[in-house]
Amino acid sequence: MAIERLRTSSGMRPTGPLHLGHYFGVLKNYVAIQEEREAYYFVADWHALTTDFADPSRLRDNSLEMVKDWLAAGLDPEKCTIFLQSAVKEHAELSLLLSMAVPVSWLERNPTYKEQQLNITDKDLSNAGFLCYPVLMAADILMYKPQGVPVGQDQLPHIELTREICRRFNGLYGATFPEPEAMLTPAAKCPGLDGRKMSKSYNNGIFLRDTMADITPKVRGMFTDPSRLRKADPGNPDVCNLYPYHVLLSSEQEQKEICEGCRNATLGCVDCKKIFLKNLEAFLEPLQQRRALLEQHPTMVMDVLMAGSQRARTFAANTLEEVREKMGLLHLGK
Ligand code: TRP
Repeated sequence: MAIERLRTSSGMRPTGPLHLGHYFGVLKNYVAIQEEREAYYFVADWHALTTDFADPSRLRDNSLEMVKDWLAAGLDPEKCTIFLQSAVKEHAELSLLLSMAVPVSWLERNPTYKEQQLNITDKDLSNAGFLCYPVLMAADILMYKPQGVPVGQDQLPHIELTREICRRFNGLYGATFPEPEAMLTPAAKCPGLDGRKMSKSYNNGIFLRDTMADITPKVRGMFTDPSRLRKADPGNPDVCNLYPYHVLLSSEQEQKEICEGCRNATLGCVDCKKIFLKNLEAFLEPLQQRRALLEQHPTMVMDVLMAGSQRARTFAANTLEEVREKMGLLHLGK
């Protein structure tokens, strides 16, 4: 008997170029998982519209650019299915059907919903689409009946809600969906260059598509231990904004030398940044090579999305047949 591989599904909103925080928080996990599981990865373009419906001018470009970032980072369309959410209409249908059984109070008390309504003041978030964000997300996930979902820490409340919706559905209509677990990357700390959260809106990130010419001045200006003003002052890697990057990118031996040199004031921040730049350059090199290949094949991203969306649709159509049947809908034949 053939052993079925574990499955996974996950998406990202196309809101702009991906940075190191995205890579070490989620994308690295995507790349590792494609080797082990049957993986469905999608551009969550409908989700981007829930907050940016009033200005969709960048949506198309952002969607294409995000797939370029994914391919550059090592996602391989031969190993995983890369698709566009809005090209697989079954996601909308499943979202609608799930919404029948989801109490509005579950959506209103979702912590992410409350927090974003408070914190995002430059956009109107009183739309129904934004309130229903987690239902669509539950549909995205449950559609592929995955055992696990690779996401960043910030998505945990949404995954919890997906699990609640899953239990509710199974309770009402019979066992249909396995309850998916969040798959987190082991704590990856990626502060922004200025110490705040790395975010496109603060313009404090290192992007996967940056060249060394973009990066070098950013790193020079990066905050380190704020109380270390001269090289002769001993520093503290625990409060340094650069050190978490050494944890991600430098060898253990280097990390040890950096910690010692910083604490006993023999290694200055300028030299410490040089080590970082060297290791960052080595990390980015294969990404840039793959990106250069993509530039030579301008239709590649569209081709990948078309083939992937076709494959996703086949899986999704099966799930929907089962769901319609369980929810008592009349079947008129093909
Ligand atoms: N909410 C996710 C984000 O902000 C995007 C997303 C949509 C998603 N649907 C999903 C993530 C399903 C995981 C699984 O990036």
